Amino acid sequence: MRHERQVELLRRLVDAPRPGPLGPASMHNPATAYTSAARFADEVRVLFRAQPVLVALSCELRDPGSFATLTVGDVPLAVVRQRDGTARGFVNVCRHRGSTLLSAPCGDGLQAIRCPYHAWTYGLDGTLRAFPGAEPGFDDVDKATHGLIEVPVAERFGLLFAIGDPAADAFDVAAALHGAELELAEFGIGAYTHVESREHEWAMNWKLAIDTFTEPYHIPWLHKDSIGPYYLFDRWIHDAFGPVQRFIGCRRSMLDELDKPDEADWQLLPHATLQYLLVPNAVLVHQVDHLELWRITPLAPDRTLLRTSVYAPPDAPRPAPYYVKNLEVLLGVTNNEDFPMQERVQRNLASGAMPELVYGKMEPALVGLHTTINERLAAAHYAGRPGGEQDRTDRDGPADGWVERAGDARDAAAVPPR
Ligand code: FES
Ligand SMILES: [Fe+2]
Repeated sequence: MRHERQVELLRRLVDAPRPGPLGPASMHNPATAYTSAARFADEVRVLFRAQPVLVALSCELRDPGSFATLTVGDVPLAVVRQRDGTARGFVNVCRHRGSTLLSAPCGDGLQAIRCPYHAWTYGLDGTLRAFPGAEPGFDDVDKATHGLIEVPVAERFGLLFAIGDPAADAFDVAAALHGAELELAEFGIGAYTHVESREHEWAMNWKLAIDTFTEPYHIPWLHKDSIGPYYLFDRWIHDAFGPVQRFIGCRRSMLDELDKPDEADWQLLPHATLQYLLVPNAVLVHQVDHLELWRITPLAPDRTLLRTSVYAPPDAPRPAPYYVKNLEVLLGVTNNEDFPMQERVQRNLASGAMPELVYGKMEPALVGLHTTINERLAAAHYAGRPGGEQDRTDRDGPADGWVERAGDARDAAAVPPR
């Protein structure tokens, strides 16, 4: 990130009230936003399948024959680096009888894509090449029409997005980032190196995974015995770029930085955690001297798969074990403190005993996040599906909770975009 931008962001902390800066309004969200099966189905369709989602960082598939996989909503996708350097995206399912093709989160060295079930073999470009050992048994199946199902992808700024709908139009990355790309471009993400990824499944709604990253309010309480002493809970920097929220949490060392008399000496990055909430499925984090990425796959209203990855900067001054250690420290906090708490929240909400949650003015990114989600669901409800087909809620009435509350969400949407 450019030094000028770091100083500009830090200046906003100097005169900010504590706690603050506060958002303009609190917001209520119904508990069913986290528990309703009907709403969950709408979210998968509207948020995960109908718009660009972050599938991978470019560095995870650098060379021809490298790939990354991710289930986007309920659609398994694979993005594959082509021999000409471009990336193409496919539904990661064999055209024969539906086997998953590539099962690793990422990998390299593919010469072709071979199904593990009966060995149908596809080129890197998705064309069906052969039915090994069984050609006469399929001589009336047209290979030309049984290639992999392709989905639109776009790659820029070291980020690779896809839409899980094969019928979707081509798009560009800037359109998915709504201005945040100008800031993200300054990190040079394309030159980072993927170090390691870990996956864990949790008994919580997918939105609780993102909620975890939206406020430092909980840090001195939930994390009092771990990271609590190192972070400020009452100062932050928050901006919205359309639906993208960027939330910057501050380490205590930030106070010393602001005491330096000359702004030319100020640095934000060593004292901050910069989190880009890329709705719906990713949280990209710049953490002091490296990148982390959380990828979120919703499995059910109360089940979520998280993939956590760590990336080293170019010419990394530290060996790979340093970044693995950082990943393990991070997961030590989230997997022992944050997500067990969210699993308890999920059970409490599912009891039906509590009608709604409150997101406060001191949780502005939380308000912005849920305002965005609720507005998108409401817009899909009123407009019907792209292509004109009426959506489920148009036929059957609103899904539990969200349409009725959309007015509240819009009222609270006055989080000022910059
Ligand atoms: S399902 Fe893939 S070859 Fe049979
Ligand atoms: Fe936390």
